[in-house]
Amino acid sequence: MDKRIVSGNIQEDELINEKNLRPKSLSEYIGQDKIKSNLEISIAAAKKRSDPLDHSLIFGPPGVGKTTLANILALEMNAQLKTTSGPAIEKAGDLVSILTGLKEGDILFIDEIHRLPRIVEEILYPAMEDLFVTWIIDKGMRARSMNLSIKPFCLVGATTRFGMVSSPLRDRFGSVIRLDFYDEPAMVSIVQRSAKIIGIPGDVKGFTEIAKRSRGTPRIANRLLRRVRDYAEVKGNNKIDESLSKTALDTLEVDELGLDDWDVVILKSLIEKFGGGPVGLETLAASISEDADTITEVYEPYLLQVGMLDRTRSGRVATARAYKHLGYPPPSDKVQPSLL
Ligand SMILES: Nc1ncnc2c1ncn2[C@@H]1O[C@H](COP(=O)(O)OP(=O)(O)O)[C@@H](O)[C@H]1O
Ligand SMILES: [Mg+2]
Repeated sequence: MDKRIVSGNIQEDELINEKNLRPKSLSEYIGQDKIKSNLEISIAAAKKRSDPLDHSLIFGPPGVGKTTLANILALEMNAQLKTTSGPAIEKAGDLVSILTGLKEGDILFIDEIHRLPRIVEEILYPAMEDLFVTWIIDKGMRARSMNLSIKPFCLVGATTRFGMVSSPLRDRFGSVIRLDFYDEPAMVSIVQRSAKIIGIPGDVKGFTEIAKRSRGTPRIANRLLRRVRDYAEVKGNNKIDESLSKTALDTLEVDELGLDDWDVVILKSLIEKFGGGPVGLETLAASISEDADTITEVYEPYLLQVGMLDRTRSGRVATARAYKHLGYPPPSDKVQPSLL
């Protein structure tokens, strides 16, 4: 599943590549202009007061720059970044020792923060608000609780599932940063920047073709760029122009909208087996032997974003755009429930 070329999740061989391509300052971070200008102000203000930044929760789909942004915040603040993740912290004690080990001004980055076990999460509440943690020592009759103080720090949490972050935790973040899919001009700039770093020449049209098929996601753009680069080196003249880019991407089976065969299977099933819907999520999932969560988490966000699929109260519906894109005659005699 994660081998999908258009998956926003990181793949095994990409760790080193990602590090090299990761922007190191806000000015290098492309797009997301409003977020950047707000952050510039908060960073300057915090520095002026010599305070840590407000605790910040970054949320957005996989591959849109959450980890990159957390790293940039640390670099811009000249702060040390300590990185961990929700699933990595199993016991409350683990988090207590991380928190008590922080130095003044450190940034603690907890990736996938929605996956923190609840009893671990509760350690964070007083830490975020009042800079202490409560720790129970000894057992049975001798058990007593102790408050340990911690240094002023900044917590940066990242999540792909905002709705799964509990509200007590959410409420303790001073700022919530929502990273969305990037628009085409930003995606083109990201491809151009990455191409320059990995040293592959090309023109705007060639890079635009990659940008368009990358689902508004920088990680996918970087992946497609590397694959097109390979193609250019082997079958082309080592330059990414429009026709080479198109041929390479067609060979990789990523269509002009960035849909791959998995997306097409879902849409075709909707159209062919269920007359375009509405059909319940579970039924749709069963029809393609996939589980419902994977459909909502992996496929749907982008299909909704590009207007191929609608979620209605009575189920999932293929839009007229999906019919057209896949070459079916328009569903003209049928009023789309989503438009009622
Ligand atoms: N705003 C951006 N400008 C340029 N490149 C970006 C940007 N956001 C992300 N990237 C690229 O995409 C890759 C994946 O970003 P990452 O921060 O790891 O995503 P996430 O943590 O949201 O899954 C990074 O290595 C970086 O090269
Ligand atoms: Mg990440």
